[in-house]
Amino acid sequence: MTVATSTTIGQRSTRHNDLRIALPPADLSFAQDEEWCVVRVNGEWREVRLHDYDELFSVPGLYEHLIYDILKCDSPARIRKLFEAELSASGAQAAALRALDLGAGNGMVGEELAGIGVEFIVGADIIEVAAEATERDRPGIYANYRVVDMTRLNQSDRRELAGYRFNCLTCVAALGFGDIPTEAFANAYNLIEPGGWIAFNIKSSFLDQNDSSDFAKLIQSVMVDKTLDVRKTQRYQHRVGTNRQPIQYTAIVGNKRRDIGNGMLR
Ligand SMILES: C[S@@+](CC[C@H](N)C(=O)[O-])C[C@H]1O[C@@H](n2cnc3c(N)ncnc32)[C@H](O)[C@@H]1O
Repeated sequence: MTVATSTTIGQRSTRHNDLRIALPPADLSFAQDEEWCVVRVNGEWREVRLHDYDELFSVPGLYEHLIYDILKCDSPARIRKLFEAELSASGAQAAALRALDLGAGNGMVGEELAGIGVEFIVGADIIEVAAEATERDRPGIYANYRVVDMTRLNQSDRRELAGYRFNCLTCVAALGFGDIPTEAFANAYNLIEPGGWIAFNIKSSFLDQNDSSDFAKLIQSVMVDKTLDVRKTQRYQHRVGTNRQPIQYTAIVGNKRRDIGNGMLR
């Protein structure tokens, strides 16, 4: 399948005269972290895995074009809408938020937060290429962008991040499936002040009682014991897979009541 060659980055329409993307046949299905497509960049075709973010972010517009234009990802906009509604219902001011955007990628969620009036946002991602792509595609969105492994914060990173006194955590399209592991989510969560806002999404199956993965267990237990006081959940179509079938996610917005303890990670 050959697709159009323009997309939008950071509210700007950008043309990619030599960017072509071909999806596998629709009757082939892959696990979410094994999906792939074929991309032509500068005259050369190459296979790219959808979870190979180094590749996706290194080509301007490729992430937006593939994940958002072609595979119809709706998650940053969906989280923004839900979060904005909950802030407004509770009378909280977006401008008072100090947000940590975990798994920030090239800044799409930061851009949505800025769009609702959040003025202080720090991005965190594990790969340098994501930081470079943010600087290229959405400069100025983040007050700071840290390339860190949240599972292994050294003392100086921990001190610096704690110093921001975050009262908001966002984490969109980044949990599970070989992306952000439970320890990284818990470490980021524990950097947020009690009462702070938590807005994230996960594959809906993680909320099924019979899903026994580490992530499912963690998310279910923080919701049940009110470590996270959930205000709103919404099930929706996150995107379609390369097999063109819908992938259902659940957006969750709530307030942190207490830290995630080590015992909850096992
Ligand atoms: C699908 S992208 C989502 C980017 C952005 N949140 C969005 O919605 O467009 C997932 C991001 O999570 C990042 N990531 C994966 N594992 C991570 C980890 N352990 N710590 C921080 N970021 C991680 C990846 O590098 C990638 O940028």
